[in-house]
Amino acid sequence: GTIYVLNGPNLNLLGKRQPDIYGHETLADVESACAERAAVHGLKTRFLQSNAEHQLIDWIHEARESAVAIVINPAAYTHTSVAILDALNAFEGPVIEVHISNVHKREDFRHHSFVSLRADGVIAGCGTQGYLLAIDRVATVLAAS
Ligand code: DQA
Repeated sequence: GTIYVLNGPNLNLLGKRQPDIYGHETLADVESACAERAAVHGLKTRFLQSNAEHQLIDWIHEARESAVAIVINPAAYTHTSVAILDALNAFEGPVIEVHISNVHKREDFRHHSFVSLRADGVIAGCGTQGYLLAIDRVATVLAAS
């Protein structure tokens, strides 16, 4: 099975933007670490990033046919997007929400997540390791189902 790992706006700049908050690893580093971790569980990843809300929604729709689970860091759309929530509600497998930073330690506007209304699990503040924890969680949930 394939896990869709979806990344929202500005995450293409990972490692370059606000490294004090998001660290020095790039999104390409995270992509290869995710592929390795999924392989340990006999799973594959399709790792994607877009700055555009509609593109993320289209990938979530595609996941309905081709993914066993979704790991998503919706970035700023976490806090704004009913449309991404609605798309995730149309997906039947496990959904794990990841934030590199601890959003609860930050500005109030980052404390609310539309995506959390759908997510089966939420990981925040574990750095990029959060993606790997999410993949481990997906493997556990899939094995139990
Ligand atoms: C983020 C947290 C969001 O509040 C922010 O808009 C991001 C990244 C994180 O991974 O910590 O772009 O999702």
